[in-house]
Amino acid sequence: MTGNITFTMIKPDAIEANNAGPILAMINKAGFRIVAMKYMKLSKDQAGEFYAVHKERPFYGELTEYMSSGPIIAAVLEKENAVADYRKLIGATDPSKAEEGTIRRLFAKSIAANAVHGSDSDENAEIESSFFFSRLERF
Ligand code: RTP
Ligand code: MG
Repeated sequence: MTGNITFTMIKPDAIEANNAGPILAMINKAGFRIVAMKYMKLSKDQAGEFYAVHKERPFYGELTEYMSSGPIIAAVLEKENAVADYRKLIGATDPSKAEEGTIRRLFAKSIAANAVHGSDSDENAEIESSFFFSRLERF
């Protein structure tokens, strides 16, 4: 199954703006199957653990503050070539550089509040999925 799953979060800005529905519709339309999903709020410590790779970056405090500022939707998505195809669907980190028609171009507010997260490798897709979901919660 390597290469067939990715992990996503719909971030607080997109939930707040009532864009969860349209984003999930784009995900399904692009051919991803929902393997697991939950609606929840992260604590600052949990957000910090999730984004631990960015601990030394100047935006780490802002990022973890923001990711714990409101509820998120976490999901595991399945599709052939899931990681790369999903990164393509969401577009560049900075929405002003994201391609036309991508989720971030359509819904992101800024580089920090950029609507969605997407795993950057097969290995991280599995690590991130396991952070949120047990085997019993994946279908
Ligand atoms: P993500 O992990 O959320 O899918 O985003 P990404 O791969 O496109 O970008 P990454 O470099 O992993 O950065 C993680 C998140 O940190 C926030 N960020 N803020 N203020 C800034 O300069 C800055 N740079 C990054 C964004 O929310 C980014 O998605
Ligand atoms: Mg990343």
